Amino acid sequence: MFVADCLTINDKGHLCIDQADTLALAAKYGTPLYVMSESQIRTNCRRYQESLQRFYDGNGLIVYASKAFCCKEICRIIAQEGLGLDVVSGGELYTAASVKFPGEKIYFHGNHKTPSELVAALEYGVGTIVVDNLEELSLLDRLACAQGKQQEIMLRIKPGVDAHTHQFIRTGQIDSKFGFALETGEALLAVQEAARLSHIRLTGLHCHIGSQIFDTEPFLLAVRVMVGFLAQIRQETGLTLHRLNLGGGYGICYTPDDDPPMYEAYLQRVSTVVREVCGLLDFPLPYLLLEPGRSIVGPAGVTLYTVGSVKEIPGVRTYVSIDGGMTDNPRYALYQSRYQILNARQAAQPQTMRVTLAGRCCESGDLIGEDLPVQALAPGDTVAVLSTGAYNYSMASHYNRVPNPPVVMVRDAEDRLIVKRESWEDLAARDL
Ligand SMILES: Cc1ncc(COP(=O)(O)O)c(C=O)c1O
Repeated sequence: MFVADCLTINDKGHLCIDQADTLALAAKYGTPLYVMSESQIRTNCRRYQESLQRFYDGNGLIVYASKAFCCKEICRIIAQEGLGLDVVSGGELYTAASVKFPGEKIYFHGNHKTPSELVAALEYGVGTIVVDNLEELSLLDRLACAQGKQQEIMLRIKPGVDAHTHQFIRTGQIDSKFGFALETGEALLAVQEAARLSHIRLTGLHCHIGSQIFDTEPFLLAVRVMVGFLAQIRQETGLTLHRLNLGGGYGICYTPDDDPPMYEAYLQRVSTVVREVCGLLDFPLPYLLLEPGRSIVGPAGVTLYTVGSVKEIPGVRTYVSIDGGMTDNPRYALYQSRYQILNARQAAQPQTMRVTLAGRCCESGDLIGEDLPVQALAPGDTVAVLSTGAYNYSMASHYNRVPNPPVVMVRDAEDRLIVKRESWEDLAARDL
């Protein structure tokens, strides 16, 4: 019935996450409130790692893409689970560093890393910098030289694969701002340039074809293209690169209609194709990296809101307004994403209403969704929006000077605050 295993209904009929009653959490911490299930996050990490062990003899690393949800406690949990960490900015790196995340397991991504961010990465001892463009390559070489270091890198490649997902989260095709294109020969030139630079050590290739992808075929096509390119590099330059990072992008359930492949099945197919293509090209099996973000934290999150007004416009629609919206979850405004919503007090009751869940900002597009089935809702009720663990907290804004909600982590019914609620004072604290 639910889109995530951590969600259940207790004997009062209330929605629970990781066995904690969501109404009790709303009463204790107030709304809007992000709630995350620690058990679900850890289970998701372990499912990935066990699959990598089972289908690829553990010859690789699962790297959590922290852009999906980055705060100190998430970084601690990811470190405890033994995963690597993908960071994409100085801020994400700073957060990881502040909990002493092992530098050698950090992968620094992004199409625009500033000089000061690269210096910070070198100083912290970031294991791998995933270089996006030639300017960054030569800048990094100079900065590493200044620190007397040789920095290990991967190159981000556009494999020319068109993943079937929303255009804003599609990244593997030639018309993308990320990485080096294969078709134009630019990727091979970048390899040759990297090999020439003395403070750079190129050890692998990276690609990421998009996000919220349900179809495994585009991933398998990317594997074929990338291993083919590894073999081409060996033939044309004599260089054998030993690492292949296939990025993230595995889809999750947002509504009961969604049917993403199991991670296990996905990893089995990817491993099989890597072995097949390497066998055909007589190329050594690479160390494999996968970078899931959404599928680690997405299903583990729920956002709780309080209903303000219910406005029925006869023959048109019913607006239900909540005390949050696009400032804590911009995904509907950005991608028309769909969610499952529930009246947290009557989670098992029939869904008798269809509503437009409207945020509080001065923006008609500030919606969490339209035409959403839900149990009867009245002012004061608690609404739960499910599967909000990824790209909600991390994409939050301060539009209309709305403070960001706190984050509560739950494990086996025990709750703890991991990010404090922002206050109005916090919002104005840096104003001069
Ligand atoms: C380079 C890279 N790796 C991994 C991810 C994570 O993708 P997802 O959250 O869909 O698994 C992203 C998402 O944008 C990305 O850009």
